[in-house]
Amino acid sequence: MSIVYLNGEFLPVERATVSVLDRGFLFGDGIYEVIPVYGGRLFRLPQHLQRLQQSLEGIRLQNPLSHAEWGALFREAVARNGGGDLSMYLQVTRGFVAKRDHAFPATATPTILVMTNPLPRRPNPPGVSAIVARDIRWDLCHIKAITLLPNTLLRQEAIEAGASEAILVRHGVVTEGAASNVFVVSGGRVATPAKGTQILPGITRDLVVELLHEAGIGCEERVVTIDELRAADEVWLTAATREVAPVVRLEGAPVGTGAPGPVWKAVDDLYQDYKRRVREGLVEN
Ligand code: PDD
Repeated sequence: MSIVYLNGEFLPVERATVSVLDRGFLFGDGIYEVIPVYGGRLFRLPQHLQRLQQSLEGIRLQNPLSHAEWGALFREAVARNGGGDLSMYLQVTRGFVAKRDHAFPATATPTILVMTNPLPRRPNPPGVSAIVARDIRWDLCHIKAITLLPNTLLRQEAIEAGASEAILVRHGVVTEGAASNVFVVSGGRVATPAKGTQILPGITRDLVVELLHEAGIGCEERVVTIDELRAADEVWLTAATREVAPVVRLEGAPVGTGAPGPVWKAVDDLYQDYKRRVREGLVEN
């Protein structure tokens, strides 16, 4: 049984409940993080805590815990759930209020939830399919907000089309996936949409960019057009829970040869090696 942390105590997930007057429930007024855990060790913890801080600032909510307190809480959650490989979910909402009112309450104690889930297995063979859809989301996509209705509608559209992700396009420009970042490879050159308010600054994305530079492959962070996406030799999706996933079919047509490409293979090797070093405690956290 999964043990979760809710507002100061650890308890079985079945008993972890929040009020209907929680602003997370009423307005989706909150933010979240998803952190992979490998061999009991948190992946890129400082980067996740920094993004958590930025999301909280984005919704004008004070961070209820220090980075050290978050770290200790996550480690306890990992231990209570048996360690190993996990996906750590944390959510902070603006908390319980006396009555429903759009305006911020004068005082409210944030609701803090930390829970673990099994990490999904990598698809074998590794290729995934994607559709292309209009980015119908808001203008502050850099905030990791729990308000995910557009993302759920878009992901569902992909599933119903027999794909596993929707790649989003705004005015002819690729932003990201419904729950992932996007990379394209054309003629051996790798590119990914530049950061800004239109995309989530993915922790996996940043690591992949770093690994590509270290390996001398390089990566351009710039505008990626829909035409470029459709003509790309390789397309990848990155996210905490899917690592670097090669898209082998886009809108029903093969991407490149229809099999994961050589640049993906190179970056996946680097990524798996990084994971191994995290597992073995060789990466500072
Ligand atoms: N989502 N873009 C969006 C819109 C996302 O929801 C996610 C991740 C990413 C990738 O970010 P990261 O590499 O830090 O996981 C990009 C998580 C996994 C989720 O919602 O479950």
